[in-house]
Order: sequence, then structure tokens, then C-alpha cells
Amino acid sequence: MTAPILRQLDELRTTTAPWLRAGGRIGVVPTMGALHDGHLSLVAAAKMACDHVIVTIFVNPRQFNNPEDLANYPRTETEDARKLARFDVDALWVPDADQVYPDGFATTVSVSGLTDVMDGAYRPGHFDGVATVVTKLFTQTSATDAFFGEKDFQQLLIVRRLAADLDLGVTVHGCPTIRDIDGLALSSRNLLLSDRARTMAPRLHDEMEEIAAGLSRGEDFEPLREAAIARLLTAGFTQVDYLDLRAQSDLRSVQDTAQPARLFAAAHLAGVRLIDNIAV
Ligand code: PAF
Repeated sequence: MTAPILRQLDELRTTTAPWLRAGGRIGVVPTMGALHDGHLSLVAAAKMACDHVIVTIFVNPRQFNNPEDLANYPRTETEDARKLARFDVDALWVPDADQVYPDGFATTVSVSGLTDVMDGAYRPGHFDGVATVVTKLFTQTSATDAFFGEKDFQQLLIVRRLAADLDLGVTVHGCPTIRDIDGLALSSRNLLLSDRARTMAPRLHDEMEEIAAGLSRGEDFEPLREAAIARLLTAGFTQVDYLDLRAQSDLRSVQDTAQPARLFAAAHLAGVRLIDNIAV
């Protein structure tokens, strides 16, 4: 069944009021659209765990540090609604911009610490934009549960932190990264890759798996990292922003896997910035 598309806050509140009176769980899947199987896996998880499911689609200008990136971000609302039809979600919250950022909007939610590294360092203001819009989407939808992909692992930790710090009463669920058959992590940005770049893109994940294999053989991280970066640059990646080994709990930099750790990468290929992470 096609879910109603709600664009105004009063429509959203009318929709959620009876759910709130009945006391059910309201699951929210926040997205910026251009939905792929990764998003759909979050919707499936939300359907399993919750009485009502809202998918939000909002290309949030405040989290783009680069205007060109915002202009190029894929927008595919009709197709997105079609993909969601088989999940029987209860509503799509596709707010008009003024429903999120009304005139005079002056509040920023900013999480410290976790945002200092990786994408926080390379994309100034990005996580303030994410934290602010996610806080709004949670409160607007009266979410009890929210579903995020581990592909954006740093974002997932930041959202968990803010939900706890602000007593939002939202349980934040992290769901595994979904990959194409060749290992490339699904991302809306993959739509921006040329055919040629798309064939090279899985190299990023391949190199991360190489490092993970080296670590499990007891090799040192630093030489593994340097060799992987050199191979990526030779293969046609134009820049590697980071290729880091970090503690899974708080993203502090580590040199071995004595505690649960993840490898995190961000690299540019043919004008598209790809990110990925794996547990090691
Ligand atoms: O992961 C995303 O698509 C966005 O950062 C989110 C969480 C929908 C906030 O705009």
C-alpha cells in the first residue's frame, strides 16, 4: 500500500496523535532519499520492531559543507515512494523546508568529542547539521525508535550520544551495512559514479579487507595502511582523506585490535567521496 506523503507538521501531528494515545512504538527511518537496499533494510528492521513506521525524506541543507555537493545530491522522490510501497509503512515525512527550518531558526545541536575526527574534521559543520536535523525529526515524529545504517558509523555513535544526552527517549538501532555483490557499500552517492568509476569503487573495501587480514596475521597497522593508500592512489583514487583504525566505542585512534575496533575510510574517486568502515 502506498503510504501518505506528509509535508506539513499539522498533518504529521494529526497522523501520530492516535498512535501516541494508544501507546505504541513509533519507528523512524531518517533518510535523504535516493533510497537503496541499505535504506530498505532499515525499513524492514523498523517494521519488525515497531507498531508504526515513518520514513523521513529530507535533503538537509545544513549538513552539506559544499554547495555543489548539495546541488548534485540525487533526488528521486517518486521512485523512493514506489520502493517503499511493498513495506506498508504508515507515513512518509517529506517536510517542506520551512517545516524544519522556519524563519528565524537559531538552534544548533552540537555533539563534542565524537565529531572531532574523520568526517567531523574533513567536513566542517556537517555533524552539527546532522545532529540538529535528527533531533528535529525525532521530536517532530514522536519517535520511540530510530534506525541508522552502520555504513555511517560515526553518525550512528553521534546520534546515540545526542539521544541519550538530551533524554529524547529514542532507542537508536544500528543496522549492518548492505553491500553490492562486489563489496561496494550501498550509498545514494554511488548513483553519481560513472560506469568506469563504479568498476573501480569496490577497491576501497578490498583494501580495507587486506588491512584486516594483515592485522589478523599480527602485522603492524601503519605499514599496512601506507601500502593500501599507495595502491588506491595508483588505482585511480585521487585522494584518501583518512584510513584509520579506531575503537568502536568512542572512535579513539588505536594501533591494534586488543579492543573491539573498526577500520574507517574516506576516499575520492572521479569527483565522488566514498566512505566505508568494517569491524576488525
Ligand atoms: O544518513 C543520512 O542520510 C542523513 O545524515 C540523515 C541521518 C538522514 C540526516 O539528514
